[in-house]
Amino acid sequence: MQKIAMLGSGFIGRFYADSLQGQRSKDKIVSIYSRKEESAKKFAGDYNVPHFTTNMEESISNPEVTIVCIALPNNLHEEAVMLCCKHKKAVISTKPLARNAAEAKRMLEAVEKAGIFNGYLEDLVYSPKCLKAIKEVENGAIGRVLWAKSREAHPGPHSDWFWNKEYAGGGCILDLGCHCIEITRSYIGKDIKPVEVMCWADTQVKPIEAEDHAIALIKYENGAIAQFEVSWIFRGGMDLREEVMGTEGTIWVNNFLRTGFEMFSTGKGTAYVAEKAESNAGWLFPVGDEVNDLGYNHMFTDMFRSFEEGRQPRETFYDGYFCNVIMDAAYKSAASKKWEPVNLEIWRGKTGVSKVSNLTEYDKDHYLVKEEVTHYGEKKLILKNKQTGKIIEKVV
Ligand SMILES: NC(=O)c1ccc[n+]([C@@H]2O[C@H](COP(=O)([O-])OP(=O)(O)OC[C@H]3O[C@@H](n4cnc5c(N)ncnc54)[C@H](O)[C@@H]3O)[C@@H](O)[C@H]2O)c1
Repeated sequence: MQKIAMLGSGFIGRFYADSLQGQRSKDKIVSIYSRKEESAKKFAGDYNVPHFTTNMEESISNPEVTIVCIALPNNLHEEAVMLCCKHKKAVISTKPLARNAAEAKRMLEAVEKAGIFNGYLEDLVYSPKCLKAIKEVENGAIGRVLWAKSREAHPGPHSDWFWNKEYAGGGCILDLGCHCIEITRSYIGKDIKPVEVMCWADTQVKPIEAEDHAIALIKYENGAIAQFEVSWIFRGGMDLREEVMGTEGTIWVNNFLRTGFEMFSTGKGTAYVAEKAESNAGWLFPVGDEVNDLGYNHMFTDMFRSFEEGRQPRETFYDGYFCNVIMDAAYKSAASKKWEPVNLEIWRGKTGVSKVSNLTEYDKDHYLVKEEVTHYGEKKLILKNKQTGKIIEKVV
């Protein structure tokens, strides 16, 4: 059983609490820290938490607490992590780990130096659909992954600090790109090194300093390409989709909108439909069990099991650092309008992987380009002569 200190009583703090104390969970939140006393008190009442405080260190150092869960604005993650190191408390942090790679690297090095358990709460790689899709990719069901795309787009976050570049560290790239980077990387292979990033970002609608819309490509050493599409100005709810293309197959995942559950309502009796839903009338797309479908249950199970068994969870602070490095390169590219190198000062995967060959052997003289059965019943092969380079058709 874990006894949790929850830092932050806002949007994600409450989602986490619903997951941690939902169903028949044995894990309990024993302390809640919030900036405002009334919020801490309200959270304590709602979730039956015995201790509440407006002092972060008091919550972390509470002797009852076995693990600290950071659910604070981005500018407060580092301070919270450093206090966990000081008090040698296991720590799990929400995304993004930090506002930039330098901050993330300091946090990673600090937890490793302190020797404390660290987990990165990237929930979307734990969604049941994503977990299953990753397993299929690992089993070889779609062959060699060539392209992985992840899209997170919605009408924008709900609290003031997200819209302030100083507190948030950036706009939708930092807020949503971190999810997409880790999702696409999980399909391509977490041990494959990213090489460079090309990004377009703009502020198309909102009166803010940071970007409200961005698209980026991340090139990997083995020739695979990742793509993210993120937006704070998408209308119509929360669009959370993935597409993976491999040499032997394709995967399409739709996590949130239009998942097979559709409902019509005049709006009577329906207040909340799903996260970021923009309407409660007309044809609606509710989500069966948001807490589960967004991955929170599987994520906390992995975190706590790993902690108890003395091993690393699927997502650690290293993965959070990785995402910040990619996002730094994306911001650089959006400004320079060029491919920018990925500056991973700490790399823990394979090195020197080269691009996989595009030549499929057919026989000693030919490479195979394509084979198909036509609508008139012929089996046709397209072949390339190894010596001359000539492309021919062969009917078998
Ligand atoms: N899917 C996800 O994993 C997911 C979703 C939403 C948010 N988040 C992350 O969770 C973190 C918190 O986001 P949120 O949506 O819960 O924000 P929020 O504004 O709803 O809540 C933040 C909470 O932090 C506390 N706080 C302490 N000092 C504060 C300060 N100076 N200013 C504001 N709040 C202060 C308060 O208790 C407040 O309720 C962010 O890092 C965000 O990126 C993750």
